Amino acid sequence: MLVLGVESSCDETGVALYDSARGLLAHALYSQIAMHNDYGGVVPELASRDHIRRVLPLTRQVLAEAGCTLEDIDGIAYTQGPGLAGALLVGAGMARALAYALNIPAVGVHHLEGHMLSPLISDTPPEFPFVALLVSGGHTQLMLVSGVGRYTLLGETLDDAAGEAFDKTAQLLGLGYPGGPALSRLAATGDASRFTLPRPMLNSGDFDFSFSGLKTAVLTLVRKAGLDQAADIAAAFQSAAVEVLVSKSLAACSHSGATRLVVAGGVGANTHLRERLTREAKARGIAVFYPKLEFCTDNGAMIAFAGAQRLAHANADLTFAVRPRWELATLDAV
Ligand code: KG4
Ligand code: ZN
Repeated sequence: MLVLGVESSCDETGVALYDSARGLLAHALYSQIAMHNDYGGVVPELASRDHIRRVLPLTRQVLAEAGCTLEDIDGIAYTQGPGLAGALLVGAGMARALAYALNIPAVGVHHLEGHMLSPLISDTPPEFPFVALLVSGGHTQLMLVSGVGRYTLLGETLDDAAGEAFDKTAQLLGLGYPGGPALSRLAATGDASRFTLPRPMLNSGDFDFSFSGLKTAVLTLVRKAGLDQAADIAAAFQSAAVEVLVSKSLAACSHSGATRLVVAGGVGANTHLRERLTREAKARGIAVFYPKLEFCTDNGAMIAFAGAQRLAHANADLTFAVRPRWELATLDAV
């Protein structure tokens, strides 16, 4: 089954073609980061308008790259939520209209399910069950995943998401938007042991997180030490955030008896997190699976893949609605 995937929940338009027999045939991405950079964050109305400009050229591009025509497509998957309502409507409207014109099924995909299943787009995918650490710009969650749609929430952030903490800290250090990659590059040049920052909820005995206090501690440190010390502050922040993420993820594996851990979402691209998690997990007999770097941040491939898992069960309803807010643990199992 050949599935066209369309992602438009935030500031990246992603389109991909995934074939259930042959794997990923093509994917293309347009990032709006440069456009939003001037404003220090995503401007929803500008995001929606840009998705409109990009989504059809990207669709033509992936079809050409895969050597396919519209008539070859068997189903269309699009991000239904969570995300920016106007941005979601662009992908949903395009996908539903195209599916109607081609007389093929369309299915709305949960953006975080896309992220969480993205490590499965691999020649050596992890088997179920596994624990998933979802670390994106908007979410930080630990999930027990026993199958597609079989998700049990183990813990989540009580305030800021991990990516949000990276972004806000980067802003305090005078780095651009989104700050995660820039902060991570700066941290690599700094000394993480110069300053000690708090590890919020490290010993709380549950699988919840809190990152807003860490951000405030960075603000206090910046005021005291000054931006000359930005690299050391970045390294101290990264070290604190990563230590909490690693510790809670491994504790969630022990608690649930899982020997496989999947990391997904933009912060999963962080080199320090990958190195430390892989090392500490290995020592405990836990295998860690990451998506390819290009599939850590938002992309169409993960939506096409998750859609392909769900399309067999899609109904023929032609109406659609987007879900700007949507709890991952409420999905139906397939
Ligand atoms: O998953 P994603 O692309 O979008 C959401 O669904 O939110 O995640 C974006 C987040 C941003 O907060 C960005 O700063 C962060 O992922 N990020 C990183 C890195 N690359 C992206 N954070 C830390 N280190 C990175 N290398
Ligand atoms: Zn995302």
